[in-house]
Amino acid sequence: MQNLKTSTPDMPQTRPRIGEEVMCVQQVCRGFGKNPSEQLVLDDVDVTLREGEIVGLLGRSGSGKSTLLRIIAGLIPPTSGDVNYLGKPLRGPAEGVAMVFQTFALFPWLTVLENVEAGLEAIGVGPHERRKRALAAIDLIGLDGFENAYPRELSGGMRQRVGLARALAANTDVLLMDEAFSALDPLIRTEMQDQLLELQATLKKTIVFITHDLDEALRIGNQIAILRDGRLIQCGTPDDILHRPADDYVRRFVERRAGTTH
Ligand SMILES: Nc1ncnc2c1ncn2[C@@H]1O[C@H](COP(=O)(O)OP(=O)(O)OP(=O)(O)O)[C@@H](O)[C@H]1O
Ligand SMILES: [Mg+2]
Repeated sequence: MQNLKTSTPDMPQTRPRIGEEVMCVQQVCRGFGKNPSEQLVLDDVDVTLREGEIVGLLGRSGSGKSTLLRIIAGLIPPTSGDVNYLGKPLRGPAEGVAMVFQTFALFPWLTVLENVEAGLEAIGVGPHERRKRALAAIDLIGLDGFENAYPRELSGGMRQRVGLARALAANTDVLLMDEAFSALDPLIRTEMQDQLLELQATLKKTIVFITHDLDEALRIGNQIAILRDGRLIQCGTPDDILHRPADDYVRRFVERRAGTTH
């Protein structure tokens, strides 16, 4: 299997070491509408992402998860506060950050290979390099042989693999996943979780993974961040969340999960 990391000469040569700070979000607030500083969707959020870690981002619908992810990606700026990426203020879309969405976001009129290549074309990779990287990423996620298939010919799980291949082909250090597995049925979902963990064992990216499912977060994440109404109420290891909940809200979150397993 081709190693993606060695096949991309245009990536920065110096990646942070495992455990080093990659992204630092400090006192970030974000609002929308006419008075963004009054109606806050994110309120004074601090998060640090470290190289090689997987952060599971949890919270109810509307708690601000996707907004935080978009800020980390540099797709939208915070209303106030700072975002530093590799030690520099983030202004505009972060190079070195790729996103995977719940809805796959594939072009139906393009084949698997063309869909993966399209992501690379968008970031200005030349045709030869594009083909090489796309084929390597398709191989990596186990869709070898489906290069010429169209999205409609694939199952949901396979489509999401294409979405993942597109993000991996960009060979970014940081991978942001917004409920990437939520639309998949439970069996395929577990398979995708396993595959992500397997890939992570060699790729060692920095991943932020939004989910509504505490079990999924506990299974995949080394860190778990819980948002409530735009405030980050706890960020800690799975063990912290399970055994040292920051408040009653987290405790109830955990108890509800325990309740479902009995
Ligand atoms: N572009 C926007 N304009 C106005 N309001 C927005 C915009 N984007 C998000 N919001 C509001 O911000 C709040 C948080 O939205 P966000 O999408 O971050 O939540 P979420 O935690 O990802 O929810 P879900 O689990 O449903 O995806 C919501 O009330 C939403 O309506
Ligand atoms: Mg969302």
